[in-house]
Amino acid sequence: MLSDQALTVKACWGRNGLSRLESGLLLAHVLGKPREWLLAHDDHVLSSAELSAFLALDNRRRQGEPMAYLLGQREFMSHCFTVGPDVLIPRPDTELLVEMALVSIAHKAAPAVLDLGTGSGIIAISIAKARPDAQVTATDCSARALAIARTNAKRLNISVQMLLGKWFDPFPTSPLFDLIVSNPPYIHPQDPHLDQGDLRFEPRVALTDEQDGLSAYQSIIFEAASRLKPGGEIWLEHGFDQAQAVVQYLTQAGFTQIKTSQDLAGHPRVSGGSYNSCNS
Ligand SMILES: C[S@@+](CC[C@H](N)C(=O)[O-])C[C@H]1O[C@@H](n2cnc3c(N)ncnc32)[C@H](O)[C@@H]1O
Repeated sequence: MLSDQALTVKACWGRNGLSRLESGLLLAHVLGKPREWLLAHDDHVLSSAELSAFLALDNRRRQGEPMAYLLGQREFMSHCFTVGPDVLIPRPDTELLVEMALVSIAHKAAPAVLDLGTGSGIIAISIAKARPDAQVTATDCSARALAIARTNAKRLNISVQMLLGKWFDPFPTSPLFDLIVSNPPYIHPQDPHLDQGDLRFEPRVALTDEQDGLSAYQSIIFEAASRLKPGGEIWLEHGFDQAQAVVQYLTQAGFTQIKTSQDLAGHPRVSGGSYNSCNS
């Protein structure tokens, strides 16, 4: 256990039960320096304010709080996003969803894009960054999540319309979209993972639908058909064992050219298809 007698970078770094990586990130964060700076300045003496800030973060990390919340940021699609306990921590798997989304609008000029359940805004903002001509709208039922998404859009100098409400509720009348994307809550409420690791600290509304893990897909997919332009596409992230159910809903809703893509671990992770009004 470190005490307030231990005042140098060397004394704090990787010697308090945390890995060298994690304590280095916390130290760099507290000192406002890049992590490489620590190597060249390991004899730097922390001020008492720096030391107490570091010890507080170190203590919270040892209680299990996610690094992303302690640092207040996480990289996604090479952009730095502000995150906090009001939003899901961005996952690398979600980059696959953004990639599929960008392919789907690659040949459409000024596409209208809707991201449902935007959280920190990573999907909507990454699409808008990659396609500055796109008209991107994002919704979420959490006002606190939307506040973070708006902060991220501003920080990254991107214009995204952010609307509060459940799924399509902010659109009583249709604007029609070229692309609808979503990474909805998909964990079964009895899944023991909800009580483990980072998930213990993330907003429950971002993790589970409190039903069967599939209800958000039903709500989104069956309504999406009436919200897409002819030839418009939907792409959805899902759990590794949910592709079959999601594909079945897409088929029932009249989507065609349905595909599932695998994440880096080889799990089916993203499914989608296209909609023509004459499909069904
Ligand atoms: C799995 S998180 C995804 C967040 C972000 N899109 C991402 O990929 O990191 C799901 C998001 O959906 C939102 N959400 C849950 N139920 C919703 C509903 N009925 N209507 C709108 N948003 C909802 C949550 O607040 C949360 O931000």
